[in-house]
Amino acid sequence: MAHNAQAQFKDRMLSLGLARVSEAAAIASAKLIGRGDEKAADQAAVDAMRTQLNMLDIRGVVVIGEGERDEAPMLYIGEEVGSGGDDSPEVDIALDPLEGTTLTAKAMPNALAVISMGARNSMLHAPDVYMDKLAIGPGFDEGVVTLDMTPTQRVEALAKAKGVQPSDITVCVLERPRHREMLAELRATGASVQLITDGDVAGVIHCAETRQTGIDMYMGSGGAPEGVLAASALKCMGGQIHGRLLFRNNEERERATKAGIEDFDRIYTRDDMVRGEVIFAATGVTDGSIVKGARRVDGFLETETILMRSKTGSLRRLIYRNPL
Ligand code: FBP
Repeated sequence: MAHNAQAQFKDRMLSLGLARVSEAAAIASAKLIGRGDEKAADQAAVDAMRTQLNMLDIRGVVVIGEGERDEAPMLYIGEEVGSGGDDSPEVDIALDPLEGTTLTAKAMPNALAVISMGARNSMLHAPDVYMDKLAIGPGFDEGVVTLDMTPTQRVEALAKAKGVQPSDITVCVLERPRHREMLAELRATGASVQLITDGDVAGVIHCAETRQTGIDMYMGSGGAPEGVLAASALKCMGGQIHGRLLFRNNEERERATKAGIEDFDRIYTRDDMVRGEVIFAATGVTDGSIVKGARRVDGFLETETILMRSKTGSLRRLIYRNPL
């Protein structure tokens, strides 16, 4: 990463602008909670996020976005955003205007509007393929659990590091047929498994807030773009995430090659996915254990946002009331 780009990255004030971006996306999609229309909810979030992003004084490039240019008209990978001129910071942006489209359409918990920003060339250009992920919260030796371990070994290693029994460990997993074997193995260890139907960015963040969520570890495959967003959050909160891209066919390998990936078997650590300082904002759309969902209060739509900076490890919770 160019030293200059990092020096130019005015994360302190930019972070406040970032909160407005996730707030706008959450407010727009909140109007579509429980309406059974995933696409409409996503589109509303995309439009609002893009409008706000284009008000920021940055020269931004969307690194993690809504898809390739030919499949996503807005916030596509490579799209230049921001109103900045020659003196404005050059930044990479990872975003998911609505993480949990199905959760929103069905009014289920943990849908978020999420965005992170770092200096130019600081983020992994993850292609839109699956990623095998493993995450834990802060306070453990690097590599205490790894992707090369079996699920049983991971539970045992984490239990040992925490000085507890495997049955005291709670693992969060996306409920998918592809995880059936892993789930059976986890259950055999005696660990508790919290299944989520969607939303693995929240799933990973939950590991960094074990006291509130009870979750110690996240594992399983989900979107690679969501992996970079989760790595951004853990860079601010502390914690480890390991990810390996998974390819189902040659078309997906071509996607990766186009994104600049050369080693298809590489295991990425948190700091491989996010190489410099980063700022991260997430606003609740539906209620979750990280933030409350958007709600109507006395003629206002109220949102809650967490806003974090990796440089300082600071975390703000912002309540915003927008007249209805
Ligand atoms: P969307 O909001 O884009 O629908 O993503 C939700 C999500 O659950 C992610 O959190 C997760 O990484 C991915 O989908 C899992 O993909 P799949 O549903 O194909 O297993």
